[in-house]
Amino acid sequence: MTTIEFPQNLKWGAATAAYQIEGAANKDGRAPSIWDTFSHTPGNVKNGDNGDDACDSYHRYQEDVQYLKELGVDVYRFSISWPRVMPGATGDLNPEGVSYYRNLIQELVDNGIEPIITLYHWDLPQSLQDHGGWENRRTVDAFQEYASAMFREFGDVVKKWITINEPWCASFLSNYLGVHAPGKQDLQAAIDVAHHLLLAHGKSVQAFRDIVPDGEIGYAPNVDWLEPYSQDQEDKDACEREMQWKVQWFMDPVFKGEYPQLLQDIFAKHNGHVKLEEGDMDIISQPIDFMGINYYSGHVARHKKGNGMFEVEPIWVDYDKTDIGWPVYADGFYNVLTHLQQLYGDIPIYITENGACYNHEVKDGIVNDQERIDYLKQHLTALHRAIKSGVPIKGYILWSLLDNFEWAEGYSKRFGIIHVNYRTFERTKKESFYWYKQTVHNNWFEI
Ligand code: NOJ
Repeated sequence: MTTIEFPQNLKWGAATAAYQIEGAANKDGRAPSIWDTFSHTPGNVKNGDNGDDACDSYHRYQEDVQYLKELGVDVYRFSISWPRVMPGATGDLNPEGVSYYRNLIQELVDNGIEPIITLYHWDLPQSLQDHGGWENRRTVDAFQEYASAMFREFGDVVKKWITINEPWCASFLSNYLGVHAPGKQDLQAAIDVAHHLLLAHGKSVQAFRDIVPDGEIGYAPNVDWLEPYSQDQEDKDACEREMQWKVQWFMDPVFKGEYPQLLQDIFAKHNGHVKLEEGDMDIISQPIDFMGINYYSGHVARHKKGNGMFEVEPIWVDYDKTDIGWPVYADGFYNVLTHLQQLYGDIPIYITENGACYNHEVKDGIVNDQERIDYLKQHLTALHRAIKSGVPIKGYILWSLLDNFEWAEGYSKRFGIIHVNYRTFERTKKESFYWYKQTVHNNWFEI
C-alpha cells in the first residue's frame, strides 16, 4: 500500500454547467441558446435528447448543495446561462434569472462552499447566432457587457471566475468538425470563432480588473496528450502538430501574445487565416491569475500521410476505455501538466475538470462504479506526481457532481458521482461519491 497525500492547501471541488443540469429551459424569462436550437434539430443529439429538463437543478439546487456539503468540498464550479440572465443578449438583466444564481451563491456560502463561476460554458444566446454568433466580432462586445454585468452582480461575493470553457470545443469541434452547436464545418469560421473567444476572454479580464480588483480570473482550456507511436521524427512531428492545435493554439496567444507559426502555415494551406486587428494580441494576453485545465484522456498516435489537416492517426493500443470510448491514460495527465509548465512557466493551475464516463445504473439502491474510482485514483496519482515535480497545482475539481446532459451524446453518457434518474430527477449517490468524500476529508488515499 502506498499513501498518496496532498498538500494541505489544495482545494477540492466538483463541477457542472448550466445547460447540462438546470433544465427549466422555458421558465422565468430565459431565452433560447444555440444549444436549444441545435438539440431540437433532429439528428444532432443522440436519441433526440435536449436540455429542456436536464437534471432540473433550477428547482433542486438546494438539494444539490447539500450533496456538495456532504462531500466536504471547498469549491463548486458552475456556469451562468447567459440567455437566462440577459435574454436580449445585451441590455436588461432578467431579475428572475439573476435571483436564481444569487440564491445558489448564497446557499453555497451558507454551507461553507466557495463558488467558482464559469461565464461561458457554450450556451450562446440564439439571437447572437442569428447574426453570425462568435464569427461576428460584435459578439465579443456583447460578451464583455454580459461579463461586466455578472461581475457587478456577484463580484462582491464570488472571487474566482473563469471566462471561457474549452475554447477548442467551442470553436473547432463546433464549427470545423460540426459535432457541437452550431454544427458548422468550415475552417475559416472555426478560426474566427477561436479568435473572438480569445478576444472575449481578454476583454472580460480587463473589465474584471476594474470591477472586482480583489478577485482572481482565468479560463479553462481543454488539453489532451498525444504520445508518439515510435521515435521516428515523422511520428513525433505528427503528434506535435495535433498537440499544438489542441493546446498551444489557445495558450500561446494568452501567455505569449502570438499564435503558433507552425499551425498558421498549416491553416494557410487550407485557406484559413487569423483576421487580426491592431491591439488584439495585447488584449488577449492580459495577465491572468490562474489557468484552468480540463483533462480526460490521451492516446498514442503516428504520422499518416493524407490523414486530415495534421496527417496524424490515432493508434488504438490496448487501453482500458471509459464508456464514451476514451482511453484511460493517466500518464498523459502528468505529461501534459509538466509540459505546460515547461512552455508557460509557473502559472497557478486549477484542474477545472477531470472525471470519467461510466454508465452504471442503480441496483438495490446502490451504484457500484468501481471503474470510476479506479480512474480517479489513477489520475489523482498522476496529479500528485505533477505536484511533487513542482507544477503549481492549486485545486482539483471533479467532473461531475451529477450525471447530466452530455452535449451531442445526450443523456446516454454518465459522468456523475451522483446518479440521476431523468424521469423522476431522483439522485442516488454512487460508490465513487463516498470514495471522493473520504479522499477530500483525509486529503489522502491509498493505492
Ligand atoms: C468537457 C466539458 O466542459 C463538459 O461540459 C463535458 O460534459 C465534459 N468535458 C465531458 O465530456
